[in-house]
Amino acid sequence: MRPRFSWLVWLVLPSCAASAPRPSSSAATRPVVPSPERIAAAMPGVGPSAFAAELTAHGVDPANLPPLAALDKATLKAIMPSLSKAVGMGCSECHVQHDYPAPTEMKRIAAGMWEHFAQKLTLAGGAPLYCDSCHHGQRKLLSRADLPALNFAMDQAYAQGIHRKDGAENDCSTCHGKHFEPHIEDKLWRGQP
Ligand code: HEC
Ligand code: HEC
Ligand code: HEC
Repeated sequence: MRPRFSWLVWLVLPSCAASAPRPSSSAATRPVVPSPERIAAAMPGVGPSAFAAELTAHGVDPANLPPLAALDKATLKAIMPSLSKAVGMGCSECHVQHDYPAPTEMKRIAAGMWEHFAQKLTLAGGAPLYCDSCHHGQRKLLSRADLPALNFAMDQAYAQGIHRKDGAENDCSTCHGKHFEPHIEDKLWRGQP
């Protein structure tokens, strides 16, 4: 299968970058590597969770998160403050007031992030990955105005900085699918979990 753009091959296989000719000889096909400042501005990196002890205290193992559906109501309610703080969202940004079980768009996305990311991935060093590992207490993370820098940042943080628990190699396809779908929550997770 041939990706459409040669720069994408180069991007997705960062190991080739070191041996690649400098951009001056092939500027048309190989973009200049964005500066560290641009990469840092595109999105935050990944880090250890501040909520591991809080989850453990409520009987939830951060290294082996169960499916949300397997948690009883009391446990769900007990871990909600951690989830809420981790992503910087108040209860009412995900829930209809006075009807916590009611489905909402933000609950659907949060449940997808739990199932596809928090349950299945770890930090590259093996430490548990929880919502704050990526969100750092913020709801919005990505600056899509500088896509070349965002691509590099995604590679450093979410591809190289994260491992899959199933042991398979972690790359863009883990989250974006085989045919690179940019809109993960809208297209890949629609209707799931
Ligand atoms: C980022 C989204 C998000 C935020 C913020 C959030 N929740 Fe939740 N909440 C969920 C999801 C996802 C579930 C999982 C089960 C479900 O679908 O009801 C859930 C489940 C619950 C449940 C159990 C509902 C049931 O089905 O019985 C309660 C109670 C609850 N949350 C309370 C809270 C409270 C209180 C806060 C604020 C401290 C909060 N939640 C913040 C997403 C969120
Ligand atoms: C691998 C990194 C990663 C992990 C882990 C992760 N998220 Fe996310 N999440 C993202 C990214 C990236 C976005 C898109 C942010 C943007 O558009 O700026 C996002 C978006 C969201 C949104 C939608 C926000 C909006 O306004 O559209 C919600 C809700 C959310 N995440 C909840 C969670 C919850 C709850 C957890 C933990 C169960 C979690 N996330 C774990 C990376 C992650
Ligand atoms: C651990 C999961 C994960 C991995 C691995 C990952 N991404 Fe992402 N990426 C996300 C999430 C989550 C979003 C936000 C998706 C959304 O808003 O629907 C996102 C969004 C993006 C966007 C912005 C899309 C847009 O137009 O809004 C780009 C570009 C991107 N990723 C590139 C990459 C590249 C290139 C790789 C591989 C080097 C990669 N990503 C690996 C989780 C990941």
